[in-house]
Amino acid sequence: MKTIIEPFKIKMVEPIKLTTSMQREEILRKAHFNVFLIPAEDVLIDLLTDSGTSAMSSEQWAGMLRGDESYAGARSWFRFEKVLQDLTGIQHVLPTHQGRASERILFELLGGPGKVIPSNNHFDTTRANIEHSGARAVDLVIDEGKQPRNRHPFKGNLDIQKLATLIEREGRENIPVCMVTVTNNSGGGQPVSLQNLRDVRKLCDRHRIPLYLDACRFAENAYLIKQREHGQENRGTREIAREMFDLADGATISAKKDGLVNIGGVLLMRDDNLAIRANNLLILTEGFVTYGGLAGRDLEAMAQGFIEVLDEDYLQYRLRSVAYLCEHLLQAGVQIVEPPGGHAIYLDAAAFCPHIPPAQFPGQALVCALYRHAGIRGVEIGSVMFGHTDSLTGKVVHPPMELVRLAIPRRVYTQSHIDYVIEAVVELFQQREEIHGLRIVEEPLVLRHFTAKFAEA
Ligand SMILES: Cc1ncc(COP(=O)(O)O)c(C=O)c1O
Repeated sequence: MKTIIEPFKIKMVEPIKLTTSMQREEILRKAHFNVFLIPAEDVLIDLLTDSGTSAMSSEQWAGMLRGDESYAGARSWFRFEKVLQDLTGIQHVLPTHQGRASERILFELLGGPGKVIPSNNHFDTTRANIEHSGARAVDLVIDEGKQPRNRHPFKGNLDIQKLATLIEREGRENIPVCMVTVTNNSGGGQPVSLQNLRDVRKLCDRHRIPLYLDACRFAENAYLIKQREHGQENRGTREIAREMFDLADGATISAKKDGLVNIGGVLLMRDDNLAIRANNLLILTEGFVTYGGLAGRDLEAMAQGFIEVLDEDYLQYRLRSVAYLCEHLLQAGVQIVEPPGGHAIYLDAAAFCPHIPPAQFPGQALVCALYRHAGIRGVEIGSVMFGHTDSLTGKVVHPPMELVRLAIPRRVYTQSHIDYVIEAVVELFQQREEIHGLRIVEEPLVLRHFTAKFAEA
């Protein structure tokens, strides 16, 4: 059979509310043209994020009931620890409430003034935690990773030459760890090849620098390796994922992605001494070492999620539905970041709305137009999120790309929802001249995209 179906049945449903475009216009104005300020129940298809939005399986819900809520040494903890150890081969497993809690502990231990921490692309919370420690976060993704229409299969790869130059320039003693984000969320959800991880490892070994993965989407990365990397097509995804972890000294994971849960995270490490210090910090802010910031039922759901996510039928359906959305938009002439990554597609808002200059936020305008047209919520990744005023020149600096991310929650929407999204984006594309730019009327000092208020330009 050629049709790839959702490999699950639905036995619990949550209604979504249909609204008229007139109602959505009013909702949008009330939210000051910022979709973060729209109540979720007024959204028909919510593609704001794939984080913490997964649907859990019946086995995960059963685990929620089985959860052992003992303070120390709960049965659920031992199951969780074993699943993570079997999956990664890494001995020290620290449960945390989400990815950024793992990052905070790791960088409080390894960061600090004068330190430099390279990655392909740091995710924004990772960067923020590194900078909070006083260290510098450096992005070293390959050049192809910054070219929206370059079809390199592994646009998340870290540039080995740039890493070698950085080590030479900064000195290995100032580089306490090298990170690699799989898949590379800030770079468009693009995968990292196994060969690239091996090369990074080799270089790190030469300089005795530990290598950590930001492994939020390790399963999607492993399946993309199986699909795209020569020589990997006949290996199991679990085996590939294991090799990825074998190459690392540790990992930070937000289980809200490939852990298939709504809350949870993990910090993994091989170094015994570092683990003792990390556990002390864990107790200080998250909770005792056998529950982190979580309930026993959360640990059960995560343990089960980390098993289910490596099911190849699931991964085939998951990555195919993202690729299907990508192919249909490209066929209709809508420009997106190519090839599709694992968890989202990125519309090129500058190409979609060439009549709107960066100063009028084409990405934000497109996000609002998509909500108004069809009740779909995406997120701007462009001048609203990354634009800033240069402190030396006083000039406004715009990022190189104006994108709109449509992130696909796991196991939540069916093919007809995806077909609806395609129809909506294509219809909007056909009437794109009617989309108007925006201006900011109120903004906070940091992370303005969450709460800024806009008006029509
Ligand atoms: C690559 C990456 N790292 C870290 C995080 C942070 O995880 P959390 O939101 O659970 O704190 C995210 C969340 O989106 C992410 O995509």
